[in-house]
Amino acid sequence: MKNFGIFGCGNIANVHAMAIRSISGAKLVGCADVVMKAAATFAENYRIRYYDNLQHMLQDPEIDIVCVCTPNGTHAEIAIEVLKADKHVIVEKPMATTTIDCDKMIEAAKKSKGKIMVISQLRMSNSVVRAKEIIENGQIGKIILCSLSMPYYRSEEYFHNSWRGTIKMDGGGALMNQGIHGVDLLQYMVGRAKKIKSIVKTLAHNIEVEDAAVCALEFENGAVGVIQATTAVNPGFDREIRIYGTNGCIFLRENKLEKLIIDGEEQAGELFIAKGNANDAALVTEEEHAKQIRRFVRALEGQDYDYVDGPEGRKAVEIIERIYWAGREDRD
Ligand SMILES: NC(=O)c1ccc[n+]([C@@H]2O[C@H](COP(=O)([O-])OP(=O)(O)OC[C@H]3O[C@@H](n4cnc5c(N)ncnc54)[C@H](O)[C@@H]3O)[C@@H](O)[C@H]2O)c1
Repeated sequence: MKNFGIFGCGNIANVHAMAIRSISGAKLVGCADVVMKAAATFAENYRIRYYDNLQHMLQDPEIDIVCVCTPNGTHAEIAIEVLKADKHVIVEKPMATTTIDCDKMIEAAKKSKGKIMVISQLRMSNSVVRAKEIIENGQIGKIILCSLSMPYYRSEEYFHNSWRGTIKMDGGGALMNQGIHGVDLLQYMVGRAKKIKSIVKTLAHNIEVEDAAVCALEFENGAVGVIQATTAVNPGFDREIRIYGTNGCIFLRENKLEKLIIDGEEQAGELFIAKGNANDAALVTEEEHAKQIRRFVRALEGQDYDYVDGPEGRKAVEIIERIYWAGREDRD
C-alpha cells in the first residue's frame, strides 16, 4: 500500500484525490496548504488528516508519496523538499517554470530514495496511446508535417487576483500553463525540436505572460511543424493536433482520434472519445490522472511500468522556454 499526501488544496487537488481513491494499493491519508483553512476544508471533504505545513507532512512516516498541486512557480522548491525527505513526488504540470529548475529537481531525485513523476495525463488517453503506437510502427511513414492548434479562452476574471498570468508563479501563459499538454503531446509523438522560430505576444489580457503565440519548428527527425496558441479567443475552440507522414496521417481533436489514414486508406472504427476539454480546466476528469498515478504506484512496487520521470517531464518545458527565447525580440 502506498500512502499519499497532497500539498496545495485547490482545483486540481480534487482530481488527484479522486484519482488516488480509484487505485487499488493507493490511499490518500493527508493534505496541507499554505492556507490552513483550505487544507482543513479539503481534509474534511475527503475524511483525511491535515498538517499545518509541508515539513509536518514530510515528517509523517506514514506518507510515501506527495502530490504537488500548487502554483507552477512553487513546484521545484516543494518537489526538492519532498525528495530531500526521501519521499516520492508527483508534480503537476508544468514540471517547473524553467529548465534550470527542472534540472535541480532531476539532481535532487538522483540523490534521493524518492522518485519523481510529472503529470502529463493526456499521454494516457486512448487516442494518444493509439497514435503513438501507429507512429512508432511506421504506419504513417516518415513524418513530414505537423501542427498543434490551441485557440482557447480564459476570461479576465480567471487571471484577476491570482497567481495565474504572473511570470513568477505561472511562468508563462497560453503555452506554459494552458498549452503545455498540447506541446508535450506533439513532442511525445513527433520528437525533439532542432530549430524554433516564434512570435510571442500579450494581446488581450492585462497579464505579464503571453496570451498569443505562433511558432515554426524543425524537428530532429527532419519533420517541420507549427504551433499556435492563445487564451484570448471567445468562446474558445478545440485543441487539434495533425501529423502527416509519407504514408498517411493522424488527426487528434481534443481526446478524440478524428482521422486516421494508413497507406492512403481511411481507417474506420478507430475513433476514441474521452471526457475533458482543454478549453475549460474545470472539465479535467480524474480518469487519465488515475492511469498515470497507477503506473507510478505499480513501478514503485517493482512492476515493469514506465512513467513520465524528470527528464521526460522536462521536455515540454524546454520547448516552451525555447519558444519564449526565440520570440523575445517580438515581445512588446
Ligand atoms: N493536469 C491538469 O490538467 C491541470 C489542470 C489544472 C491545474 N493544473 C496544475 O495544478 C497546479 C495547481 O492548479 P490549481 O488550478 O489547482 O490552482 P489553485 O489556485 O486552485 O490551487 C492552488 C493551491 O495551492 C495553494 N498555494 C498557493 N500558493 C502556494 C504556495 N506558495 N505554496 C504552496 N501552496 C500554495 C493555494 O492556497 C491553493 O490551495 C498548477 O501547477 C496547475 O498548472 C493541472
